[in-house]
Amino acid sequence: MDSNHGWPEPIIRVQSLSESGTETIPTRYIKPPSDRPNIEANSSTLSIPVIDLSAMSKEEMASAVSAACREWGFFQVVNHGVRPELVRHAQEIWRGFFRLPMEEKQRYANSPTTYEGYGSRLGVEKGVSLDWGDYYFLHVLPSCLKNHEKWPALPPDLRDITDEYSRELLNLCGRVMEAMSIGLGLDPTRLQESFGGTEVGACLRVNYYPKCPQPELTLGLSSHSDPGGMTVLLVDNHVRGLQIRKGSDWVTVEPIRDAFILNVGDQIQVLSNAIYKSVEHRVMVNAANERLSMAFFYNPKADLPLSPIRELITPDRPALYKPMSFNEYRLYIRQRGPRGKSQVESLKTSQ
Ligand code: OGA
Ligand code: NI
Repeated sequence: MDSNHGWPEPIIRVQSLSESGTETIPTRYIKPPSDRPNIEANSSTLSIPVIDLSAMSKEEMASAVSAACREWGFFQVVNHGVRPELVRHAQEIWRGFFRLPMEEKQRYANSPTTYEGYGSRLGVEKGVSLDWGDYYFLHVLPSCLKNHEKWPALPPDLRDITDEYSRELLNLCGRVMEAMSIGLGLDPTRLQESFGGTEVGACLRVNYYPKCPQPELTLGLSSHSDPGGMTVLLVDNHVRGLQIRKGSDWVTVEPIRDAFILNVGDQIQVLSNAIYKSVEHRVMVNAANERLSMAFFYNPKADLPLSPIRELITPDRPALYKPMSFNEYRLYIRQRGPRGKSQVESLKTSQ
């Protein structure tokens, strides 16, 4: 393999840039004025729905989840049943990974063919705009893609804890899928079946956003919608960063201790015939604090052609999307990097 691991130009770790103490960020990270975050003005007073799962029947959960998926595409869940100690342990252990010496992390440097491992960019086009963040990407499911050798060997408990964390999140995703299905007026298992039943995929991307000397000029992650099924996001509870598009506004998410942020991905938008929305979001960085987030992506079976669920197609609401498998779909974002919602839009049938 070439010295760039298949990337079109040498990879620079944002962490190294940040730690170099530079006071100005390289041009490649500077966003056009229209894309820059409005760091000072925390304009919107809106906030995404918060759903408490402890005190709810299945029907109540379905109607709360359904309303959030239609209106926002995003919600937070509290009392979700995943032990807070496990959640914090997972965060700490991954923080530990990013604190390891660079040589240790570089052993896992990723390449554009699979994206597995330690990475610093999305998109393989030469000269693309870069985001202020490094990440680690790994496969949890299907088991034929899961490979512990590609997960960090250090810190020592990272693999075990990540396994345990993933099992808990898969459980939670199963419950939410049921609620989403009922909320569409379908049988509880219908959405899961359209995902490929038990043959779903899951991956984890741990995002590490180092301190940034000029946060007003850049983004930790450019605006995008998540290409997969749904995402369960865990964020630092003391550092804001995530913003969600609401019309022409950007709403900043207020982190809640031990909560998860859930959002609809493009594949659920397609299956639900756009009754549920995958919504654009982006990440701001800041000068005072680094930030770690863990995005767990729950995806349909990768080679299954997906199109709107039959029962959701009516004379008034014809199928909005043509069939495409998730494998074909995700090539786009891997090649071009985050681009708002242009991809799911491009799937639209021309009626
Ligand atoms: C993502 C994502 C948000 C965050 O990884 O797709 O949107 O807060 N992350 O890091
Ligand atoms: Ni995302």
